[in-house]
Order: sequence, then C-alpha cells, then structure tokens
Amino acid sequence: MGKPITDRVTWVGKVDWELKRFHGDEYSTDHGSSYNSYLIRDGKTILVDTVWQPFEAEYIQALKDELDLAELDAIICQHAEIDHSGALAEIVRERPDIPIYCTANGVKIIKGMFHGDWNFQVVKTGDTIELESGTLTFVEAPMLHWPDTMFTYYSADEILFSNDGFGQHYASQFRYNDEVDQAELYREARKYYANILTPFSAQVTRKINEILALNLPLKMICPSHGVIWRENPAQIIEQYLKWADKFQQNQITIVYDSMWHSTRLMAEAIGSGISKADPSIEVKIFNAAKSDKNDILTEIFCSKAVLAGAYTINNGISYAISGLLEMVCGLKFKNKKAAAFGSYGWSGEGIKLVTEFLRRGGFEIVNDGIKQLWKPDEAALEQCSKFGEEFVKAL
Ligand code: FEO
Repeated sequence: MGKPITDRVTWVGKVDWELKRFHGDEYSTDHGSSYNSYLIRDGKTILVDTVWQPFEAEYIQALKDELDLAELDAIICQHAEIDHSGALAEIVRERPDIPIYCTANGVKIIKGMFHGDWNFQVVKTGDTIELESGTLTFVEAPMLHWPDTMFTYYSADEILFSNDGFGQHYASQFRYNDEVDQAELYREARKYYANILTPFSAQVTRKINEILALNLPLKMICPSHGVIWRENPAQIIEQYLKWADKFQQNQITIVYDSMWHSTRLMAEAIGSGISKADPSIEVKIFNAAKSDKNDILTEIFCSKAVLAGAYTINNGISYAISGLLEMVCGLKFKNKKAAAFGSYGWSGEGIKLVTEFLRRGGFEIVNDGIKQLWKPDEAALEQCSKFGEEFVKAL
C-alpha cells in the first residue's frame, strides 16, 4: 500500500522489520530497515528506485495496486546495489522497453548484476527530466557510497531523493523524522554514517557543499532507507558535515578480546587510569567477541583515541579482535590516536600485531603499548593504570 508524501509523490517501498544482518554479515540492523521507493505522478509517471530482491514479488503487487505498470514512463535507478535495484528485472520483464535513468557506472553495475541489456538512459549532473509541474535534476554522487550513486532533485515539491545518503537502517510504521523517537533515529543515522560512509567523508563534504551552493529550496530529503527528513531537513545535512569533518568527542574506546580474563583486567585498569588522569573523558570498554561489531565501530568513530587489546595465540591474535581491526582499517578513520595492550604466556607478539593494524588504519600510534605476562597481579594492574594515565597525557 503506497503512502502519499505529497500530492504528486507516493512512497511505495517496503519496511523490513525482521532484517538483522545487512551487506552479508557486515552490518547489524537491530532496528530492521526499509527500502524506500517513490512514485512521482506529474504529467509523466516515474519510479525512483525499487526494493531488495527478496521483496520483489510483494513490491510489484503493491505497485500494481497503485497503477498499471503500462502507465510507468521511466525508472530512475539512483544506485544499482540490489537493495534498491532488486525489482528492476521483474519490471523490465513486464515492460521490456522502459527507460532506466542511471549514471554510466550504473549501467555497468546493473549489467554486471542482472546481465540484461536494457533501455538505459545515461545521465550526468545537471541532466533533467521535465515534468508538468517541475523538473527532475540529476546530481552524480560517486562513492556515496558506490561509484554509480546519484541524487535526484524534484523542483515541484522541493524534494531531494538522496538514495543511501542521509539514510538509516530503521524500520518504522512512521515515514517522517518528526514522528519517531529522536534518540533512536540519531543512533541509527550515526551508526549508518560511521559504518558505511566514513571512508568517503571527503566526498560527503564536497557533495554537500556543491549542493548547498545551488541554494535549492528544500522541503524534504527522501533517502532510500529509514524515515524521510521532513522537519528541518537541514539538520541532517549539518550533522553530516560534522561527522565528515574528522569527527570525535571527548571519548576513548577500549576494545579487547580476552581468553582467560587477563586482557580484560588490563583493559579495565587502563580505563581506570584514563579516568584518574582526566575524569571528563568518557571511557567505553568492549569485548570484541561479545559486543556488536558495528556498535563498537560507531564508538570508535565517536572517539578521539582507541586502545586495542589482544592476547597472543599461536603467534597471532584472535579472530574477534583481528576481524574488528580489519574493519577499522577499511573505515579509514581520521584524526584518532591509539595504542595496544594485551596479556601473553610465552611468545607475546599480540601487541605488535595490533599496533601494525592500528598504524595501517591511519591511527597515530602514541606508544609501543603494554603487555603483561600471564594474569596481571596488583603491581601489573597498577602499571596498566599508569599506562592509561600516561596515554591521556600524550594525547
Ligand atoms: Fe542501500 Fe548501497 O544500498
């Protein structure tokens, strides 16, 4: 069932309440998600994006409840990832000649995904589709977050269709930002930025400034996931500019894995030392094997520094901490400092390996880290606490 957004625009997407993992296992979606698709009826009838493939059949049925597919004049495919392009093949099966507006990279990716040579209409920034009451203008947004991504501005209703940009993996019966719990909304928007858009922060800043310079009136931002920014849509633009600008709070995140609690004891003693040196710093401590990895990554995104701890096993480190650190490297955090710690029994390479990960991830390494043999005793824990104090002083 479609939900009218304006007199001319109808939301025809799918709310996915049960989604718990996204991008394979890369992203946890505690609050589900939605795949937002929009139908514009303004002289011509245009579909903006579709939904994820598993929902193709019910999406097409819901679309047919709205209109006869023969009435569709075109599809705008702003991004070819299959959570948005998943129903294209079925629509093309029923409407083989339907024009599909997308970027040149979009054509390559759609062909790679669907192996169909369809009626692609390649667009670039500034290209338009004239409708009865207004104009659809395309804005290429490469690497936000795929090479093919683009936005679409609809002048008649002053809407920016932003695809993944400004989205949230957030299932709700509500469609607008002013209807939902603000803390939940911002938690999901921040997690989304931290885990998906952080590597592309330079492009985020450039693209937002490019769009702001156009001085377009803006009533709504309609992303492809989560709720629509209707109340003060500029708020999420301003927030993105902050997140994209080497974001940090007065926070240090300590993350570790621990086989027999020795590295955990070190983590907590280091945390105590940090608080002793500067009680204003928020210290957050996570066991990488027990906490949600995307929540930890979001906390690292918010931190000015990170302490990563690992025990040594088989001349290496555990998969929980190495997997997390691999993701940390990929996210290319900026403007953050770090050091390593961990317990060991004999060879003790753990902290060296963690330090290498952190250096590869672009962190400024504050010191050589601290390691303790077997279970730390009182004296060892005192050393860890002092290490925490010294770490703060070195920031
Ligand atoms: Fe929501 Fe990049 O797909």
